[in-house]
Amino acid sequence: MNIKTLAQWEHVLAPFIAHLPAKMVISNYSQSRLDFLKKLTEEIPTKAYQPPEHLARTLWGIRFRSSIMNAAGMFKNGECYDMIAMQGAGAYLGGTGTWNARKGNEKENISLPFVAYRKSHAASNWLGLPNNGDTKNFLHAQTLGKMLDCPIGWSVMGSPDYESQEKMNYLVSSMCLYQNAGVDFLEINESCPNTEQGKPQDSNLAQRLQYIKEHFLEQRSRRLPVIVKFSNDTQKEQLPFLLDLLFSLGYDGVNFGNTSTQYALHREKIVPPEQKIYDYFTSTFGGGVSGRPLNESSLELASRAVEYRNAGYPPQEFHVIRTGGIETLADLQASAQAGISLNQWFTGYFENFAYYGHDVYKKLLSLL
Ligand SMILES: Cc1cc2nc3c(=O)[nH]c(=O)nc-3n(C[C@H](O)[C@H](O)[C@H](O)COP(=O)(O)O)c2cc1C
Repeated sequence: MNIKTLAQWEHVLAPFIAHLPAKMVISNYSQSRLDFLKKLTEEIPTKAYQPPEHLARTLWGIRFRSSIMNAAGMFKNGECYDMIAMQGAGAYLGGTGTWNARKGNEKENISLPFVAYRKSHAASNWLGLPNNGDTKNFLHAQTLGKMLDCPIGWSVMGSPDYESQEKMNYLVSSMCLYQNAGVDFLEINESCPNTEQGKPQDSNLAQRLQYIKEHFLEQRSRRLPVIVKFSNDTQKEQLPFLLDLLFSLGYDGVNFGNTSTQYALHREKIVPPEQKIYDYFTSTFGGGVSGRPLNESSLELASRAVEYRNAGYPPQEFHVIRTGGIETLADLQASAQAGISLNQWFTGYFENFAYYGHDVYKKLLSLL
């Protein structure tokens, strides 16, 4: 069975899946997500799609083939670059990587818990940053020959397995490895809700960003944009502080954002037959909610960030990226109207893949 048919089957089964015991559904989804990804790595499209020239944009001197690319976490170890380049993505993003290899979370005999709420166009995950480690993956990044002019970014994060100073030293070392590997841009994940230690990245943000400025931004051996990704749960009142910090320290962009932990708020957007599974997941694992429930917050946060940047005139070229609930052409148009430079998608990508397979970007962009 090819990978598109496999994705379609899951959609056909969605109404029945919702009636099965929640734990069984989550256990199955968690395993089938891994099986699906494995199959995906084995399948490379034979026909390449190049988005039309008028959709390309040059940001920080890098030519992005369009305004949409994958979000972090899809290809944690740099898998599927060729596939993404052939599909016609604006760019490719590997990671999130950490300095050391991590197995990720396991609870209730479920490894790397994940579930999709297909009817609600949403998902939950509590993976806990599984990855093979930057010391291994940077070598992989190095061997990714640029294909069809598809730029390569990498998402990095201070490993939750290290404390304060050591954690920062390793994070900067990871950034140097990817710089030397030749990636085009870096994204710092400041927003993962899924590490066992809670949310270590929530405190001392200013000190961490200052440290990276001194030990990486100021030492860059070439023009290598560094973006910071925050949560979609960021309060709009926090925006001026966060953006002023990024402007003053010389960062190159911001991404809103990562998954949400506002379970009660998003429950309203989960259709009733899927709420039982949603409740089980959020009460047993917690994790981050993704997909359609984040559509409004990502647009609002990113739009406000654009307005603030435009009023503040930071000296550096500073771009705003939107991630959360992107599914359709209308979402891209709303972002463009707000002045958002780039979009990333995860949950919506896989939904569209079920319909269009490797034509996923072609179908989305053909009407623009
Ligand atoms: C299974 C899964 C794994 C993820 N892993 C990461 C990650 O490693 N790093 C990160 O910054 N975001 C990660 N995310 C968050 C996505 O990059 C994205 O910010 C979020 O899902 C919202 O986008 P969406 O609504 O298009 O899914 C993950 C999301 C999912 C569903």
